[in-house]
Amino acid sequence: MRYNTVAVIGLSWGDEGKGKITDFLAQKADIVVRYQGGNNAGHTVICNGIKYKFRLIPSGAPLEKEIIIGNGCVIDPKVLLSEMENLSKLNKKINLKISSTAHVIFPFHQILDELEEKKKKDYAAGTTKSGIGPTYSDKAARWGLRLFDLIHPEILKEKLIKLAKIKKDIINSYISDWKLNVDEIYEEYYNYGQKLKPYVINTAFYLNQQIDKGKKIIFEGAQGALLGIDHGMYPFGTSSNSNALGISAGTGVPPKKIGPIIGVIKAYTSRVGAGPLVTELNNEIGDKIRTQGGEYGTVTGRPRRIGWIDLFNLKYAIMINGVEDIVITLLDVLEDIDPLKICIGYEFEEEELESWPIQSELLEKCNPIYKTYTGWKKLSREEWSEIAKNGYDNLPKEMKTYINAIKEELKVNIAMLSIGPSREDTIVLKDYFD
Ligand code: GDP
Ligand code: IMO
Ligand code: MG
Repeated sequence: MRYNTVAVIGLSWGDEGKGKITDFLAQKADIVVRYQGGNNAGHTVICNGIKYKFRLIPSGAPLEKEIIIGNGCVIDPKVLLSEMENLSKLNKKINLKISSTAHVIFPFHQILDELEEKKKKDYAAGTTKSGIGPTYSDKAARWGLRLFDLIHPEILKEKLIKLAKIKKDIINSYISDWKLNVDEIYEEYYNYGQKLKPYVINTAFYLNQQIDKGKKIIFEGAQGALLGIDHGMYPFGTSSNSNALGISAGTGVPPKKIGPIIGVIKAYTSRVGAGPLVTELNNEIGDKIRTQGGEYGTVTGRPRRIGWIDLFNLKYAIMINGVEDIVITLLDVLEDIDPLKICIGYEFEEEELESWPIQSELLEKCNPIYKTYTGWKKLSREEWSEIAKNGYDNLPKEMKTYINAIKEELKVNIAMLSIGPSREDTIVLKDYFD
């Protein structure tokens, strides 16, 4: 049986444009599913002149598609409800289902996120401080609360009192006079639970049923492959499997039902947070790319670190995710930068490496090996949009050479190219769901 599913995942450090690409593909899909991460994500979708910045809500929402938040996600109910409210204000119909086994973020998780970051010093990842790490820690420790608990007041009360006591003791070891009002938290979360109750179901069962019926489904990754807990750059990443490997665990959909994995990459590298970045540009070229690309965190507003595109780490990400098709975004941002560089390998202690060294201690000592390419000239927004309308052949010839170099080195198909933030600024070379 052929299943109608695809996955859209980031292949590097997040913010590759997954939101935009998911929205584009959602035009032909029925359901969009988030399967890991939480409101550390910030996915931008621009359509009909409206800019949406989704943190938990899957990017199929502007098109009023069915949207699902899977069990692999961690949910801050306050953030989710405010996103739902924003959509309602725009008169968008919300067709949402939330997994009863997704874990809940509480205020003490956010406090611990901050305190633990301070304690870690050199090993701090520069988190979004949304409580992601502490909530996944509680999930692994098996005393976390899930959506099922949240919507059942008696269970919520009993489990919350136990967990809050444990967390208070830990927080008091950092701040001795810190006080916690369990009744207040219970009251607040009881209300959240009752508001979310109508949306909570067994999403694993529902999703498998829909896939078997032939529904067209997009699994929307958050973060990026290099930030993943198991296969990313530990400890400078996030706390979930932010890659294709997380889909089955985070939804209950078996691997055999998961279709092509579409890897999204930027035309250059960006990174929020700490850890070595081999191709980093700490100079005026980096500043220019940051300005032209508006490279400031969608969630935190932090300036993103910028570097040349790194095909060496992308090859690793492509391998672990089984990616055959890629999308290159933000190509327009590299306008008026000449020459351009593409990193094709690393040197470590004067030897060229065979594979990406996942350890941050080794990465710190690596030097990039570059190939140099001619840049393309500056165009107006209208000119880029016109090119998108007229298709691939109309791209600047220098850009086509740059794209080809990436394609050849990575040995992948180019599925789509993005030359602007809007849905229309997209060139499609491969169709899905047909
Ligand atoms: P995500 O987290 O992967 O969904 O990406 P973000 O939304 O955090 O960051 C991508 C940013 O680039 C957003 O501001 C998008 O609106 C913007 N964007 C996406 N594709 C393009 C593109 O091709 N060109 C330009 N100029 N901006 C883009
Ligand atoms: P989207 O889905 C970019 C980074 C943080 C930090 C590390 C751990 O928009 O691509 P966390 O709060 O998860 O404990 O932070 O991961 N990070 C992201 N960077 N895009 C994201 O999401 C990110 N989500 C987390 O900056 O280095
Ligand atoms: Mg983002």
